[in-house]
Amino acid sequence: MTALRITDLVFRWPRQAACLDIQGFELAAGERVFLHGASGSGKSTLLGLLGGVALPQAGRIELLGTDITRLSSRARDRFRADHIGFLFQQFNLLPWLPAIDNVLLPCTFSARRRERAGADPRAEAERMLRHLDLQPESWRKPAGELSVGQQQRVAAARALIGRPEILIADEPTSALDAERQQVFIDLLLQESAAVGAALVFVSHDQRLAGHFDRSVALHEINTAATESVT
Ligand SMILES: Nc1ncnc2c1ncn2[C@@H]1O[C@H](COP(=O)(O)OP(=O)(O)OP(=O)(O)O)[C@@H](O)[C@H]1O
Ligand SMILES: [Mg+2]
Repeated sequence: MTALRITDLVFRWPRQAACLDIQGFELAAGERVFLHGASGSGKSTLLGLLGGVALPQAGRIELLGTDITRLSSRARDRFRADHIGFLFQQFNLLPWLPAIDNVLLPCTFSARRRERAGADPRAEAERMLRHLDLQPESWRKPAGELSVGQQQRVAAARALIGRPEILIADEPTSALDAERQQVFIDLLLQESAAVGAALVFVSHDQRLAGHFDRSVALHEINTAATESVT
């Protein structure tokens, strides 16, 4: 089973040269890949395409066997809510909402995620927060009142709840010191293995590569980037 397959993908931002030109890239189910590249090389752009937030000018993006470029925007939104956990660099938590309710948001947007979170999604959210080392006294605090490291773990629990098949993480560790980075990545890998999710973890920091099943440089798969460098 293939989690992700990109074929002949071309994407350009308006009035710019092609940003991405990727002939082929694949991710097996449950595989954890580290994708690195310089700032401005197109990492976040690629993740936006994988999440169906933007559409390529050409090519196919198959997630779990569905070419999301051929879906209506409504169906793409649904597919994303049902199957993809997103972990953003800036977390994108709702600051006034208690931490635990931030974790539960995907279960309110997707019946599938709610079902896969078990009989009691709130208990599942608590289990994940506990496993991510967030103490119960923080669970009911507004997310905006937590430390950066705590917010990051809330965002990770939100991405993982309801066992999405694909997990996408955009530089989620850049706000942490080296030691906390290691701990956080190990937790993320453990949890993604526990839910069986394929993981695309993006960073410019190549030192993190050793934790993952496979490491890929964006310029190895993106010929648009190679052209602009030479
Ligand atoms: N919304 C946008 N509109 C127009 N151009 C954009 C937009 N977002 C990104 N770009 C351009 O696309 C290119 C790739 O940007 P992108 O954000 O994907 O890089 P990145 O690899 O994620 O960089 P970083 O490591 O700094 O996060 C850049 O040249 C950037 O100027
Ligand atoms: Mg980026």
